Amino acid sequence: MKKILITGATGAVGSALAKQLAAGHALALTARQTDKLQTLGHELPSAQVMAADLVQSEAAEALVQEVWQKLEGIDALAHCVGSTLIKPLHLISPAAWQEQFDLNVSTTFHVTRAVVSQALKARTPLSIVLVSSVVAHAGFANHEAVAAAKAAVTALGQSIAATYADKGIRVNIVAPGLTRSSLTQRFIATPEAEARSAALIPTGRIGEPEEVAQLIAFLLSDASRHITGQVIGIDGGQGVLHVPAKPVLKAAS
Ligand SMILES: NC(=O)c1ccc[n+]([C@@H]2O[C@H](COP(=O)([O-])OP(=O)(O)OC[C@H]3O[C@@H](n4cnc5c(N)ncnc54)[C@H](OP(=O)(O)O)[C@@H]3O)[C@@H](O)[C@H]2O)c1
Repeated sequence: MKKILITGATGAVGSALAKQLAAGHALALTARQTDKLQTLGHELPSAQVMAADLVQSEAAEALVQEVWQKLEGIDALAHCVGSTLIKPLHLISPAAWQEQFDLNVSTTFHVTRAVVSQALKARTPLSIVLVSSVVAHAGFANHEAVAAAKAAVTALGQSIAATYADKGIRVNIVAPGLTRSSLTQRFIATPEAEARSAALIPTGRIGEPEEVAQLIAFLLSDASRHITGQVIGIDGGQGVLHVPAKPVLKAAS
């Protein structure tokens, strides 16, 4: 049984992970909106739920301290907070650029800093999983802000992994491709839209949040104890494969 903090726990990936891990582990689940957290808490009554805006460093520190006390430690952190912005460079406002960095990079910095500090003080091992994106590791048109922010998440995670490798602290980064979620609703809103999106992916379909959650669960577990500093794509091959273009199939109505 591990003591696991899941951030972004009401989101598509975070909630799938919480449901997969709830039976065998002590969980602390967090997000901003209390109504959604309460609903999740009713579904998973053994889990602790607590609201925090992780863009704020003080809120992240207070959350981690509270979780540490309630669970009597933290063995693993899955940071599933993030956002996306699909716009070309010339249409991105400075405020929108900043928001991408706040939600993706600053939340990662604040939460990992707080959790790693506690683990160092307590001299306990820790496994961290961060969520980057396929768009961070290849050039995807109209993804300038989110690609840059997610590349920063990857770089931050790998550097943390290097700094604390000899302290029993592991950090791995998952890089999903298009995954069913409210973030990607516009790409899957209709069967036609989903078929167009799926046609861009070598496996011919978009990803499911449960699949990303399974990968995260493995990386949090001791089964992955010799894996650290890795970026693992879960994207139907989109980030690395070049396959011959296929005609877009008309979705069944
Ligand atoms: N879905 C995809 O296609 C895809 C592709 C590549 C990468 N990703 C990444 O995968 C991760 C999970 O994505 P998802 O699809 O599960 O997203 P999601 O469904 O939108 O979930 C995001 C979660 O983060 C929480 N959150 C947002 N801002 C927050 C803040 N400032 N402080 C604390 N919590 C905050 C949200 O709850 P509240 O709003 O209540 O705070 C929600 O629980 C993200 O890092 C995302 O960028 C997703």
